[in-house]
Amino acid sequence: MCGIVGYVGKQQAAPILLDGLAKLEYRGYDSAGIAVENGEGIHVVKAQGKLMVLREKVSHTTLSGTIGIGHTRWATHGAPSDVNSHPHLSGDGAVAVVHNGIIENYQQIKEELLAKGYVFHSETDSETVAHLLDDFLKQGYDFLESVFLMLDRIEGAYALEMICRQEPGTIIAARKNCPLVVGKGEGENYLASDVPALLHHTRDVYFLEDGEVAVVTAQQIHLFNHDRQEVHRDLFHVEWSVDAAEKGGYDHFMIKEIHEQPRIVEELFNHRVDLEKGDIRMEGIELTKETLEKLSRIYVVACGTAYHAGLYGKYLMEKICRIPVVADVASEFRYKAPILDEHTLVIVVSQSGETADTLEALRIAKRHHARVLAIVNTVGSSIAREADDVFYILAGPEISVASTKAFTAQALSLAMICCHMALELGRMTKEEFRTICQDWSAMPRQISELLKQSAIEEALAKKYAQSKNVFYIGRGLDYLVSMESSLKLKEIAYLHSEAYAAGELKHGPIAMIEDETLVIAMLTQKALYEKTLSNIKEVKARGAKVIAITMAGDTEAKKTVEDVIEIPQSSWMMAPLLANVTTQLFAYYVARELGTDIDQPRNLAKSVTVE
Ligand code: G6P
Repeated sequence: MCGIVGYVGKQQAAPILLDGLAKLEYRGYDSAGIAVENGEGIHVVKAQGKLMVLREKVSHTTLSGTIGIGHTRWATHGAPSDVNSHPHLSGDGAVAVVHNGIIENYQQIKEELLAKGYVFHSETDSETVAHLLDDFLKQGYDFLESVFLMLDRIEGAYALEMICRQEPGTIIAARKNCPLVVGKGEGENYLASDVPALLHHTRDVYFLEDGEVAVVTAQQIHLFNHDRQEVHRDLFHVEWSVDAAEKGGYDHFMIKEIHEQPRIVEELFNHRVDLEKGDIRMEGIELTKETLEKLSRIYVVACGTAYHAGLYGKYLMEKICRIPVVADVASEFRYKAPILDEHTLVIVVSQSGETADTLEALRIAKRHHARVLAIVNTVGSSIAREADDVFYILAGPEISVASTKAFTAQALSLAMICCHMALELGRMTKEEFRTICQDWSAMPRQISELLKQSAIEEALAKKYAQSKNVFYIGRGLDYLVSMESSLKLKEIAYLHSEAYAAGELKHGPIAMIEDETLVIAMLTQKALYEKTLSNIKEVKARGAKVIAITMAGDTEAKKTVEDVIEIPQSSWMMAPLLANVTTQLFAYYVARELGTDIDQPRNLAKSVTVE
């Protein structure tokens, strides 16, 4: 996600802020900016593009001052541009704000502020914070109280840093669900989203907790909880190396990103699900009853992991919406003769939004007058720009080549679109939708539970890392998720593995089963449980070692297989996504056992912009 830095002390702030932002570059960004206060006012310089562009702009200004805030933006609301970059100023420049996260209720607040005469310059949710804070300051509240009042109004996730002309020399920061660290120096203090940006200055830090507010001056750091009471905590002395700090203390970006999934699922749910209305917030994407009834078919087109998410979406849409859906890998789609016209909806799925084959598939679809809906992570990417509509998955930058959190967010996004279509078409009741929402809202906790028990996957990885052939089997959605699980193992552990529909094993692949072949069987689909269990018995009879991934409380599978990974009880729609978290962990630990380059596996690239 975005990166945040802050400095208050005796040195010039601008160079320190720029260096701090450089240390956060690994988080991914598309624009950057800084604000410096010098007693006469707040001066902002910001620019779309890499930090070089910002540095160049700064070098042409006299940005003097010993207090400032800085930001690298990874677009979520509004395309990457100078004006959408942070810091955002309030109307008369009294307040500057940088924000990481999403303000869920910004539209409503924005309308109130517009009615009061505030003028918005950007398309961002973050600018709302600057004006709202200014509004409280203008009502006569002091800086800290204004911040608390503003925080009482906003919903969503945030790490915020604010400076104001009225109280120069103070940075106020706040956090909820987005990281923020305060670093203590001698007569100078620092703020950052992550420890790496601080390590060159100090190793003594306070990690802000959710709901906390920090008031930082050159001499002092005061922390307050949500109830405005001061919190006293010991400083934490960071021992990490710079490399470890970038990964948030994890050994690899992949495992860090796996652990980000509970937060991402929660953010996506909060952002997209309108419980009051009983629908998905489609943000202008027109998939009405009339448009949907005219559709003859849907194509879902993508590559790699995104394709597997697409298969999940296809399954749901056909089962629930009863619309024919064809899923295809983009490199095939583009050379086939797909049936495309104005009654076709083409859904392209891409984390990067830059994959060459997917982009070309989009262009072909548009040339044939089909409507293109893109499910994308990267705002402002080529696919996002060229599609007719975009549904952002809000997963934040994914750095590890092997995709994990993006898959979960893509699959959930497709499930959300499917629910919206079903509601429009009258194929799902509000009641059924609310039941699904309950399952979705349980997912962050359930994924966290799985992550806490990752010693299970670690032990199994040790036990089976030397396997020569691995089969992932399942039926229905379990089969589709098996494909993604198998891909993960291939990508990072370089282990030969295949995914097979459990019922198809007997038509060939069972010939390959011999003593010690590892079979990982998914058993999350209650309706297909007995059938898959029979297939497990077939491979067991031929010498395979079997790990079953099954729901908590299943006593049957345990009697048959060597090892069991239990996932929390969940519905047919969500359980496979939980199972997939366990296979992400398994692949990760096998790769670690085998000593491969986990974040940058051989021969692979994160974004494949060539055919
Ligand atoms: C590459 C990556 C995969 C990814 C695929 C599609 O092969 O290594 O992890 O799934 O591209 O990428 P996209 O950005 O379009 O989702």
